Amino acid sequence: MTSKSLSSALPYRIGYGEDAHRLARGLPLILGGVPIPHAEQGAVAHSDGDAVLHAVADALLSGLALGDIGHYFPDTAAEYKEMDSRIILDRALMLVRARGYAPVNVALVVTLDRPKLGPLRAEIAQTVAGLLDLPATEVGVSFKTSEGLAPDHVQTRVTVLLGRTRD
Ligand code: C5P
Ligand code: MG
Repeated sequence: MTSKSLSSALPYRIGYGEDAHRLARGLPLILGGVPIPHAEQGAVAHSDGDAVLHAVADALLSGLALGDIGHYFPDTAAEYKEMDSRIILDRALMLVRARGYAPVNVALVVTLDRPKLGPLRAEIAQTVAGLLDLPATEVGVSFKTSEGLAPDHVQTRVTVLLGRTRD
């Protein structure tokens, strides 16, 4: 079997996405649709700067080789300024569903030095899962510090498994 026919026979595809934002004082920090209380710094961004939802959206698109969110939402367009990133994720999900796939599970890692996000793990998992129409048990959420290497920076890396929902 050629690799092309193998990929059409197998019902799963892997997607991977990343996003990073610079942090600055006086801005809100939103991760996975959850506003982070007591964050000293927030994301410098054209949209609401939600690095988790941006990376999840890119992971969904990459699994089907559909490009990335910048292709659909250019950060030069005035209409996308301060945009709610849930709209970006919803668009990526629609594109995936239109091709007969749906997310199966998600694994995401947020790298941020401060504040500690552990207490928000369940809320972030629940919120991301809700946006993808998945149970929270299908969204794994890990946190890492940069060990002081990038204190003014938030980064998210995401893998997603996509499953075929129809032929
Ligand atoms: O990156 P490091 O291994 O030092 O992280 C130690 C612990 O701190 C991890 O268990 C992680 O869940 C937690 N953590 C956190 N919030 C962050 C960064 C790390 O709760 N912003
Ligand atoms: Mg972003």
